Amino acid sequence: MANPLLEVRGVDAAYGESQALWDVSIDVAEGAIVALVGANGAGKSTLLKTVSGLMHPRRGEIRFRGRSIAATAPQDIVAAGLSHVPEGRGLFTRMTVQENLELGAYPAQARARMGESLERAYALFPRLAERRQQKAGLLSGGEQQMLAIGRAIMAQPSLLLLDEPSMGLSPVIVKDMFALVRTLRGQGVTILLVEQNVHQALQIADQAYVLQTGRIVMQGPGRELLADPAIRKAYIGSVAHEGAA
Ligand SMILES: Nc1ncnc2c1ncn2[C@@H]1O[C@H](COP(=O)(O)OP(=O)(O)O)[C@@H](O)[C@H]1O
Ligand SMILES: [Mg+2]
Repeated sequence: MANPLLEVRGVDAAYGESQALWDVSIDVAEGAIVALVGANGAGKSTLLKTVSGLMHPRRGEIRFRGRSIAATAPQDIVAAGLSHVPEGRGLFTRMTVQENLELGAYPAQARARMGESLERAYALFPRLAERRQQKAGLLSGGEQQMLAIGRAIMAQPSLLLLDEPSMGLSPVIVKDMFALVRTLRGQGVTILLVEQNVHQALQIADQAYVLQTGRIVMQGPGRELLADPAIRKAYIGSVAHEGAA
């Protein structure tokens, strides 16, 4: 197998004295959708923050395209092609939709292709195109999530980290969000997805990891984990709620 786009090897991470990740290793193959699931507080957001440079690992290695990024600054990681849509979205609510998108294109090579990227974002999210001059804070929850993702893709990432993109959204919009993840993958963007909708996340994931109190306790193809009785019991409930996607 070719080298994975992202390799996390034996990573420990901590907030001060409080350790949140122990010996975490994951691979994200180029072109894949990889899901990371687990209970609240398991360390999912911490792992994404550690990959995107918002935190640095205490131990272990992180490689993107074969190059170590364990000590790299977040803006340099974005410039290398790895963007993170954080939990809570992190939008500038008093700025317009378009200003938020433009801010996403801050790496030099992305700024040079700003017009093309805006077109791509508006094509992906027609609702944002209609609202380009509106303040981001006036958008619905679903639109704000779309804007956060739109802003991340303005940097033209090859790997996108999505932290609970469907959080707080209505079921219809959640469905759109999962469809969007597939669309982005179809455009050549590799996805590392943290989700509380475990059933849907495992359905679309080529590969999935289960994080429990800071450690990876299970991994495998999404559909394999979906069929696993222990996973169903812990994260999904005994019966599936949805039919096939
Ligand atoms: N800023 C922080 N300072 C201290 N501890 C934190 C901070 N953020 C998260 N934690 C702790 O780290 C652990 C993992 O949290 P987190 O990565 O947010 O979990 P998840 O995203 O899976 O819900 C939890 O015990 C949480 O309380
Ligand atoms: Mg989280």
